[in-house]
Amino acid sequence: MDINNSVALVTGANRGLGRAFAQCLLERGARKVYATARRPESVDLPGVVALPLDIADPASVRAAAEAAPDVSLLVNNAGIQTGTDLVTGSLDAVRHEMETNMFGHLGMIREFAPALARNGGGAIVNVLSAMSWFGAKGAGAYHLAKAAAWAMTNGVRLELAEQGTLVTAVHLGLADTDMAAGWPVDKIAPSDLAAAALDGVEAGSAEVLADQWSRDIKSRLPLTPEEFYAAMDRALAALTAA
Ligand SMILES: NC(=O)c1ccc[n+]([C@@H]2O[C@H](COP(=O)([O-])OP(=O)(O)OC[C@H]3O[C@@H](n4cnc5c(N)ncnc54)[C@H](OP(=O)(O)O)[C@@H]3O)[C@@H](O)[C@H]2O)c1
Repeated sequence: MDINNSVALVTGANRGLGRAFAQCLLERGARKVYATARRPESVDLPGVVALPLDIADPASVRAAAEAAPDVSLLVNNAGIQTGTDLVTGSLDAVRHEMETNMFGHLGMIREFAPALARNGGGAIVNVLSAMSWFGAKGAGAYHLAKAAAWAMTNGVRLELAEQGTLVTAVHLGLADTDMAAGWPVDKIAPSDLAAAALDGVEAGSAEVLADQWSRDIKSRLPLTPEEFYAAMDRALAALTAA
């Protein structure tokens, strides 16, 4: 996948990682960048095409697909973290995280897959998380939604292989955005995250582990749950002590 001359669409492009993706795409010579947001007037990057899009609203997703039929690179970035526990938290909030972080991304893929096929196969970037692989108190719903989105990503990669669409999963620990503002620790810069993800797309990679945190956690997956969560407790204690 050549970013230069591609036509890209980024969800949640008004701030955080989405804005960094849009900027990085422009810098790498994308021919057109649709910078989508629930409030398109909040998109402040010169040189992009701002479009309204709420990924949790199927009618809005369909309207965006109709408005942007030339897309060859879809960056599924928009997401939420509501801080909801699975057992005692609001079930509506758990569902809301699934609707946004998993079904929202899947809905985008379903609507845009025909355009990607028409435009030569193209690529999809799904911004996931190291929390696709671990749960934590206060983030049970987020873990559930990101784990489901990881499985969804692996599934659609198989289904879209025939039409030549690359599907790249991007995992990260913490990035320096509003979402991680409550964590006063070292975080990857949004521009570095976007660059690593787009390097992965250009290399044809199915997976990008963008920081050491995501690489460490993935490497622990063969552990038993007891060993895995003991290692997580140590890693989280070290992170917050640093
Ligand atoms: N920051 C981190 O440490 C971190 C770590 C791992 C993974 N991630 C993932 O990275 C992605 C981007 O997160 P971020 O850090 O940039 O978060 P952020 O700063 O909180 O920005 C979230 C973006 O998603 C948009 N959004 C939320 N719900 C939406 C919806 N229904 N439709 C359209 N847009 C919606 C927001 O739009 P509004 O401005 O309208 O709210 C905003 O543009 C997310 O998928 C997140 O889960 C982030």
